Amino acid sequence: MVGRETMLLETERMILRPPYVGDADAIQALADNFGVARWMSTFPHPYPEDGALTYLNDRESKWNDRSDMALALIERRSGAFMGILGVLLKEEGFWEVGYWLGEPFWGKGYATEATRAALVWAFDTFGMDEVFARHFVGNAASAGVLKKCGFRYTGETSQLFSKSLDREVENLWMVLDRNNQ
Ligand SMILES: CC(C)(COP(=O)(O)OP(=O)(O)OC[C@H]1O[C@@H](n2cnc3c(N)ncnc32)[C@H](O)[C@@H]1OP(=O)(O)O)[C@@H](O)C(=O)NCCC(=O)NCCS
Repeated sequence: MVGRETMLLETERMILRPPYVGDADAIQALADNFGVARWMSTFPHPYPEDGALTYLNDRESKWNDRSDMALALIERRSGAFMGILGVLLKEEGFWEVGYWLGEPFWGKGYATEATRAALVWAFDTFGMDEVFARHFVGNAASAGVLKKCGFRYTGETSQLFSKSLDREVENLWMVLDRNNQ
């Protein structure tokens, strides 16, 4: 198990490290965007004033019990905080990955680069056989990321309550096997 304090992944254009209180202003600014919130079940819109600090508050406990190992995505060139990727142990043997990026950073391949790097780490570190992901119906960008990373649709769907839309939304499940990385 990698300790949160020493966790650091480097990719060609990014650094992935746990988010800290110093990221609060950037999270607050980037998350308060309906273009982001509409695809995330957990983001209210407008984003509450204490949203980032509330989120950051329980990062350590969620890292330690593996229920949400969140990594901040930092652009190397500028040092900018761009978004978050999480590797989550939902129940024994059932792993999930999720992510969001602030709108200024979309369309540059960052989510794909981050997901690939985080999953190499997670497969190696946790001995996962497979990892799941789900996206709202219609989220072509997230589908694109997952397909580029080698995920395939399982054919299963589920409903998630979206805080920003204030209704249940259909989700499509995808899976990546260790051998297809
Ligand atoms: C989903 C999200 C993280 C994608 O990040 P990104 O860095 O822009 O994605 P990438 O640049 O790595 O895109 C990977 C592929 O997805 C596809 N794609 C990206 N944006 C797309 C869009 N708006 N429409 C259709 N396809 C898109 C492309 O095929 C792209 O491949 P290409 O570079 O060969 O063209 C970003 O759009 C986001 O944060 N959205 C809001 C929150 C969200 O949807 N989170 C995921 C919830 S499941």
